[in-house]
Amino acid sequence: MCGIVGYTGSKEASEILIGGLKKLEYRGYDSAGIALQKNGQVVIAKAAGSVADLEKSLDDRFKAVKAGIGHTRWATHGRPTDQNAHPHSSHSGEIVVVHNGIIENNRLLRKWLIEEKGYSFRSETDTEVLAHLIEEYYDGDLLEAVRKSVSTVEGSYALVAVTCREPDRLVCARKDSPLIIGFGEGENFIASDIPALLNHTRNTCILEDGEFASITAEKVEVFNLEGCPVEKEIFKVNWDIAAAEKGGYDHFMLKEIMEQPVAVRETMRQRIDAAKGRVVPTEFEISPDELARLEKIYIVACGTAYHAGLIGKAVIEKLAGIPVEVEVASEFRYREPLLGENQLAIVISQSGETADTLAGLRLARSKGVKVLAITNVVGSTVSREADQVLFTWAGPEIAVASTKAYLTQLIAVYLIAIYLGEARKTLKPEKAAELVKGLLALPSQLERILSEESIAKLRSYCDHLATWERAFFLGRNLDFPVAMEGALKLKEISYIHAEACAAGELKHGPLALIVEGLPVIALATQKAVLDKTLSNIHEVNARGGAVFAITQEGFDDVARQVESVFYLPPVNDILAPVLAVVPTQLIAYYAALARGSSVDKPRNLAKSVTVE
Ligand code: AGP
Repeated sequence: MCGIVGYTGSKEASEILIGGLKKLEYRGYDSAGIALQKNGQVVIAKAAGSVADLEKSLDDRFKAVKAGIGHTRWATHGRPTDQNAHPHSSHSGEIVVVHNGIIENNRLLRKWLIEEKGYSFRSETDTEVLAHLIEEYYDGDLLEAVRKSVSTVEGSYALVAVTCREPDRLVCARKDSPLIIGFGEGENFIASDIPALLNHTRNTCILEDGEFASITAEKVEVFNLEGCPVEKEIFKVNWDIAAAEKGGYDHFMLKEIMEQPVAVRETMRQRIDAAKGRVVPTEFEISPDELARLEKIYIVACGTAYHAGLIGKAVIEKLAGIPVEVEVASEFRYREPLLGENQLAIVISQSGETADTLAGLRLARSKGVKVLAITNVVGSTVSREADQVLFTWAGPEIAVASTKAYLTQLIAVYLIAIYLGEARKTLKPEKAAELVKGLLALPSQLERILSEESIAKLRSYCDHLATWERAFFLGRNLDFPVAMEGALKLKEISYIHAEACAAGELKHGPLALIVEGLPVIALATQKAVLDKTLSNIHEVNARGGAVFAITQEGFDDVARQVESVFYLPPVNDILAPVLAVVPTQLIAYYAALARGSSVDKPRNLAKSVTVE
């Protein structure tokens, strides 16, 4: 997820671009750059670092210029370096591009441009391919060159291009990544998101997938993929800037919960061959020899990432038949684990900077154990010190309570489990294909769960929950780590003391805490243990507990036994944790709202625990 801004008009372009990029740093902030069209050339300033650093670096070359483009980056392909920062220029330097998205066939196009067309590349990014492609197709009309270029591209893009040959003209194209046009008086704008525009105009229109636009100070023309003009309705934005940065949601946490279908879809992109029903291990590969000798996997993480590790244990053992030990990093690093040959360590960390997790990574590596990292931040310490990295592509996660990053961590462990299972032949191809099909269905199932009707049902439950100072989450099998994650979410933002209990453990002590009306959220998505979970729900009911069940459509026995029920779309049990956690995230959010706590920045907590 990156931030793009473009401007053409009569004002100081560099000021407008820098100001717009600052409003988009929540979309990415590891590097930034601008390109301005001046005196028959395009001048570029770009570097790793913040937009403020970029602003300080601008010299007089960037003054008195009326058109240009800017970009603030969240790295996916290529580390956050000066070379990899956008904008990217073509071979001749006459075409310059900024881009948000993932060019899935960038390797093929890069190879063709180098071997067939003699281009040379300066960066590791997929975006640079676009700059050279547009130059390759440029024949005097930038719009036509962009149209031809993106017709050869697979993947997602929001791109804006300029050329020194067509001063003050911006050309943009959009597929899967957002682009919004801002209409001014004698000036026009383009941006990834509304916050970048609000200081200048509230008259906007959203480019739809497959649409292009040619933008000058006086005119905006929109076309479809076939080059036919498209009439766009202008809508007036009535958000204030703060609301706009949250996409109109009241909090980043809710925005990030709602972004989960896209985050899951992006994290699977390029890693699944849908036609073959197989996982394509682009970043994580293990040799047949290593695989044959692999005896044990350690998963090391903290907090929410640890809960993803628990799901990872269950699915890797089930699908690949490899013993997995999951540990919180703060324990792992001090207990002298029996690390040695024929082992693999998987460290999971959204920020990639968590001190305990980093210590666990270093301990494993010091014992000669290969480390695979799952992290959301390209260039993070964990990503630089691991042997291999499987990045989650959730985009920046601002709220302290992790939601979309967690869901993409689950996707990562499923991909690893399926890949290992197929490689070790413990997972039959047809079973793997069935799981891949189930993974690909998750984004639309998540969208159903995040529908207004679903959310309304959860909100009414939270008003009751919010009046209590304690609550229980119950689950068995794969539902238990979901119960743990739900309890963590609730306690860390609503301050309700929520406890997760393996449902079968109730009678071994925790049942003593069940009293009349006590909120109990029961996860009941696993058919294999459903009867057992139902009897635990019965135990709670018998003591007056108020049970809210999260179960699958069709599990009708559950509804008959509880006060209220939330139905998930039917899903393969092994994938149910991806869906089941979402109602618990929303329960935590609305309970916190009802209690007036600080949802995005809960007391005593930090987004990344970089100290012990
Ligand atoms: C998540 O909701 C929590 N804020 C916290 O447990 C977090 O998951 C933990 O600190 C690990 O962070 P990391 O993924 O960045 O390593």
